[in-house]
Amino acid sequence: MKELKVTPIKNGTVIDHITPGHALKVLHVLKIPESTVSVVSILMNVNGKKGKKDIVKVENRELDPKEVNKIALLAPKATINIIRDYEVVKKYSVQLPTEVIGLIKCSNPTCISNAREPVESRFHVISRDPPRIRCYYCEREPDDITVGII
Ligand code: CTP
Ligand code: ZN
Repeated sequence: MKELKVTPIKNGTVIDHITPGHALKVLHVLKIPESTVSVVSILMNVNGKKGKKDIVKVENRELDPKEVNKIALLAPKATINIIRDYEVVKKYSVQLPTEVIGLIKCSNPTCISNAREPVESRFHVISRDPPRIRCYYCEREPDDITVGII
């Protein structure tokens, strides 16, 4: 029998297969709780078919592509499920593009992307899972990607 930890939602987005322990970082990317009135459910360390995972359910809201790419930086195996009238009407896996622009701050303080009149940050994606990126300008590879997410 399927174990139900949190009730299904009627409309909104379920971010599933989040790297265990990363649900709060996903919330941060979605600017929750600061700028949301949505009902949000969070599950951490649930047993999925392929091991432990986190799940975030946001009611009555869809994600924009920038948010999805930021989630791909923290949770490369995440799937985005769009729910309408209780049904999953769309499901897709997050996938980083080959370059990420304006999503993450370079950790090198002298990088041109951190100058007083900054150029937008730009990184080459050198690995999607685990996510690894390298600054287009100064070639720095951040140690912890999740720290610089804008
Ligand atoms: N879900 C939900 N509310 C709904 C429908 C689905 O919260 N009305 C959640 C499910 O609990 C699950 C996710 O959305 O966490 C995806 O649903 P579904 O595709 O039905 O589950 P699985 O087949 O297990 O998904 P996958 O194959 O991607 O693991
Ligand atoms: Zn840089």
